[in-house]
Amino acid sequence: MTSLLIDRIGLLVTNDPWTGAGPLGILRNAAVLAENGRIAWVGPSGEAPEADERVDADGACVLPGFVDSHSHLVFAGDRAAEFAARMRGEEYSAGGIASTVAATRSASDVVLTANAERLVAEARASGTTTIEVKSGYGLTVEDEERSLRIAASVTRETTFLGAHVVPAEYRDDPDEYAKLVAGPMLDACAPHARWADVFVERGAFDADAAEAILRAAAARGLGLRVHANQLGPGPGVQLAVELGAASADHCTYVSARDLTALSSSETVATLLPAAEFSTRAPYPDARRMLDAGVTVALASDCNPGSSYTTNMPFCIALAVREMGMTCEEAVWAATAGGARALRRSDVGWLTKGSKADLTILAAPSYLHLAYRPGTPLIREVISGGERDGRRGAE
Ligand code: NIG
Ligand code: FE
Repeated sequence: MTSLLIDRIGLLVTNDPWTGAGPLGILRNAAVLAENGRIAWVGPSGEAPEADERVDADGACVLPGFVDSHSHLVFAGDRAAEFAARMRGEEYSAGGIASTVAATRSASDVVLTANAERLVAEARASGTTTIEVKSGYGLTVEDEERSLRIAASVTRETTFLGAHVVPAEYRDDPDEYAKLVAGPMLDACAPHARWADVFVERGAFDADAAEAILRAAAARGLGLRVHANQLGPGPGVQLAVELGAASADHCTYVSARDLTALSSSETVATLLPAAEFSTRAPYPDARRMLDAGVTVALASDCNPGSSYTTNMPFCIALAVREMGMTCEEAVWAATAGGARALRRSDVGWLTKGSKADLTILAAPSYLHLAYRPGTPLIREVISGGERDGRRGAE
C-alpha cells in the first residue's frame, strides 16, 4: 500500500457540497490523503494522518484534475496557414478537415502515436488528468481502426468518429459512406471505443444519417456523443437528447426548444470556447444555458483545425470572460462537468473514494485561472495518487 499526503492546502476545491462550502465544496487549511490511487481521507490540515510521502502545498489551491471530455488528438500535420487565412478574414468550414485526413492517412503509426502522446503530456502539464480522444481523421476502415488503437494507447475514453466528414472518394455517394460507417467501420472500431460521435452539420452528416449511425453504435454497446449546432442552427441537439447521448458538444447556435430539451435530459452541453476563439465564431451563450438549468461542461476540442490547444485554464478564462460564466461555474464545468459528460463518477471531485487525480496550483485560489490568463499556474499534477508524471491522462 502506498500513501501520499498533500498537506497545508490553503483552499481545496472538492466539488462535493457535503464535504465543503458552496457548489465547489470548498475547504480551507485542508489536507488530502491518497492511498492506492484513491482519496482515503479529506480534512483539516492539522489532523492529517501519517503517510509514506508528504507534499507541502504551502497555502496553495488544490482542485480536481481537469476532465477534458472532447479532443481529437490522433492526427498528423498542422493547419497554421489555414488559421492565418482565417485571421485575414476567411471563414471556417468543415472542408479543412480533408487536409488533415490526407496527412493522417499517410503518417505511420509511430508518428501518430508520438503526436498523441505529446499532446496528452501537454494537456497533463496544464492540469488535465482525464481526456477523451476521438478518431475521425482516418475515414477508411483501416485508418479509423488504427486511430482508435492509438487513442486507446493514451486514454480509456476513446470515441469512434468515422462520421466526421464524408471523405473525397465518397463525395458522389454520401449514403454509401454512412452505410460503411454504420457497418464494417463500426465493426472494426467498436472493440477499441467506449463512445461514438457524429458531426451533425451542413457539409457533414444530416439528422437521418447521424441517427442511423448512432443507433448502430448504441446497439454495439457504445455510449453516444454528438457534434451539435456548431456552425449554425440544426437538428444535432435534439437528436442527442432523443437518443440519450451523454453529451451534445459545441451548442454554439441553440434554440429555445434545444434548451428545453437539454434541461429536461441527462445530456450535458459541452462548450468548446477555444474553437470559437480560433474560428472567430460567436461564443455559445453559457449564461442562458445555465439559467435554463442545463448541465454545462467545458472542454478543449483540441484538433489542428478549429482549436489547437490542450489548455483547460485557457478555456476557463474564455468561458468566464466571453460566455457569462462565473469563475465557480467554469471551474466546476471543467472538472465535475467533464466527468458528467463522460458519465464518470470516479473523477471530477475530491472526496473519500474518488480517484486521486488533482492539481496543485501555483496560486492561492482557483479564481486565478481566469484572473491571470496565459500564465503558468500549474505547480504539480497528481494522477492516481502518483506524482512522477509517468501516467498519462486516462
Ligand atoms: O470539433 N467540428 C468538427 N470537428 C472539429 C474540427 C476538426 C477540424 O477542423 O479539423 C471540431 O471543431
Ligand atoms: Fe470536435
